[in-house]
Amino acid sequence: MLLMRRRCRLRSRRRELLLLVVVVFGLVIIAYYLMMNENDVEKQPPCTVSQEQRRRLYPLLSTVSSLLSRLSITHFLCYDSLWGAIQESGPLPWDVHAHLCALNEKVSVHDEAELLRAFRRRGLTLEYSSADGQYTIRNSTGETGNIEVPTVRVVLFEEDDRLHMLRRVGWRRRVLPPDCDAHPTLQCFPPNLAALPLPMRPFGPLSLPAPREDIDLLKFHYPDTWWRPLQPHC
Ligand SMILES: *[C@@H]1O[C@H](CO)[C@@H](O)[C@H](O)[C@H]1NC(C)=O
Repeated sequence: MLLMRRRCRLRSRRRELLLLVVVVFGLVIIAYYLMMNENDVEKQPPCTVSQEQRRRLYPLLSTVSSLLSRLSITHFLCYDSLWGAIQESGPLPWDVHAHLCALNEKVSVHDEAELLRAFRRRGLTLEYSSADGQYTIRNSTGETGNIEVPTVRVVLFEEDDRLHMLRRVGWRRRVLPPDCDAHPTLQCFPPNLAALPLPMRPFGPLSLPAPREDIDLLKFHYPDTWWRPLQPHC
């Protein structure tokens, strides 16, 4: 009797263990899938940008940049917008949107409600993706619905004390060990590129802050392709 009960308990413990293994395995697969997927999300910009889309982008970008300055948030052109600034003194011809990078330590001194309010007062909506550590800002007034509405994406970076590098914020990357070389998705770059005061760069009709050594930042963003003109990936 006693023996049977013990065997029974043993069996149920084994079942628990099996369940645990299945759950852990499932979580690993989900995490892997999310990480693979992230690269596909941003990869299909349309090939042509209308005058209307450009006409909407510049005032949006100008407002976002001056608001960030007013809030003392260090920000600068980065990713495709930095590439555009270097190559075209403006957005890349096929890029509807604009990218800015910002330092999270300067963002996190403001609470979320204060940020939302500041943007809403200018008719702009602000959406935060905690997975990607990125704000998407758009002007929802006068949206016609049949064009892709330009947005400004503000990508957050924070300094990792052990690495002395800026790395992207967001839980999707937080699960990775802090090793910039082994994990290019951390998108690390040295903090001196974002040290104040930042130089200004022409961007269409605007003049916007740029990283200190802008080509150097391109090397970090696009390690394999920075040395040749960017081709439209559409
Ligand atoms: C938002 O769009 C409206 C309508 O097109 C425009 O009048 C306004 O200036 C825009 N605001 C910003 C900050 O871009």
